[in-house]
Amino acid sequence: MDKSAVKDLSLAPKGEKEFLWAYSNMPLLKEIGKRFGKERPFEGMKIGVALHLEKKTAVLLYALKEGGAEVIATSCNPLTTDDRIAAYLASIGITVYAWAGETKKEYDENIDRVASAKPQIVIDDGADLIALMYKNKEYTANLIGACEETTTGVIRLKAMESEGKLALPVIAVNNAYSKHLFDNYYGTGQSTVEAVMRATNKLIAGKKVVVVGYGWCGKGIAQRFRGMGAHVTVVEAGYSFSDKAVSGYHKGLQALYDGFEVRNMNDACKICDIFITATGNKSVISLEHLKLMKNGAIVANAGHFNVEIDIESLEKIAKRKRIKENIDAYEFNGKTVYLLAEGRLVNLAQPTGQGHPIEIMDGSFAIQALCCEHLVNMRGKLKPKVHDVPFDIDELVARLILENHGVKLEKPTKEQIDYSKSWDL
Ligand code: NAI
Repeated sequence: MDKSAVKDLSLAPKGEKEFLWAYSNMPLLKEIGKRFGKERPFEGMKIGVALHLEKKTAVLLYALKEGGAEVIATSCNPLTTDDRIAAYLASIGITVYAWAGETKKEYDENIDRVASAKPQIVIDDGADLIALMYKNKEYTANLIGACEETTTGVIRLKAMESEGKLALPVIAVNNAYSKHLFDNYYGTGQSTVEAVMRATNKLIAGKKVVVVGYGWCGKGIAQRFRGMGAHVTVVEAGYSFSDKAVSGYHKGLQALYDGFEVRNMNDACKICDIFITATGNKSVISLEHLKLMKNGAIVANAGHFNVEIDIESLEKIAKRKRIKENIDAYEFNGKTVYLLAEGRLVNLAQPTGQGHPIEIMDGSFAIQALCCEHLVNMRGKLKPKVHDVPFDIDELVARLILENHGVKLEKPTKEQIDYSKSWDL
């Protein structure tokens, strides 16, 4: 508790209430934590964590602690720490270096504090922690492997792998099919719409909303805004950023057939009211786009880093005024454009962003916890590369969520299984 650096330790009782509410709604993690408590898979190990430090994350860290780990945690974003949760975690013996509203320097220092503890296992979200550890080789002295939570982190780690810089295994938790399905899609969808509503208190029905990027996150955001009565336009890129398996042309086509308007940014900017980026890419809303927007347009980002909107260039020509928590007004060229949460992850920016719904994070963090255990069980046996989540874990989590909903699926007959595998029909 002494070692931690949090905003205010006296917030711990409030944090405990938040924690208990999440805990009571996370049946998968609760069970995994209980099993870890008996089996102690992380006995004597340090687990270094860089995750959004809010109530659902606290349940994951608690499960790891039950499994015998010494947990040292910071946030993966300067705005996303819930100070009540940070205080509560510190009060139960987890070392926390994080507070809401860190400067970039403080953020980097806190990541460094976790890395320099030389953990055996790392859980990262965006790969800042892993990248720092690889830049300072002594930090990786004890490292067995890492788990990465988000799309942007996996992209960075694959780039490290292709440059031959990855000396240890990393599990791309983000890429589990079940995680894409419930977390990026439903989780980002609901929480982004909710965060825009909580920050602005504006009516969504009837608004013209632009979603930039129709990947897993963008799809969910577009669907949920439509569900609230918005007229949604999707902007995609005429390019394949992936391994040439899926292109922006596919995504644009899917958006069109899903019933959305599909436009380029220039056209969308002239007519729309609210803009949400979810691409993992840079300057997808450029200064030129901002200049084209209507007076009163609202701009926010749900992608991992605060680079999707070219705020740097906007700062050079506009006068910024803080309106209230998570809303800045930018006045330029005789109009005002409102930026939410400084262009950082709007759905996680405290206090208006609450992050993904609890049930969603129960699934995602169940995968995280089981992948940490897998890294320990497979110690020394996994190649130094980015690994997919083992199918058994991916499927198990989907099955357990269904079981918790009381849902039963069909059990195929042997005849059906044989039929599905044969060619001579
Ligand atoms: P994805 O790879 O499935 O989708 C990204 C889409 O953006 C692709 O379809 C791509 O073609 C498109 N795109 C790229 N550049 C573009 C441009 N200039 N204009 C228009 N479209 C463009 O990725 P996913 O899983 O949807 O993640 C997107 C971002 O959201 C990542 O940074 C990821 O880390 C982050 N993320 C955020 C979460 C949150 O809670 N806010 C949760 C999960 C992921």
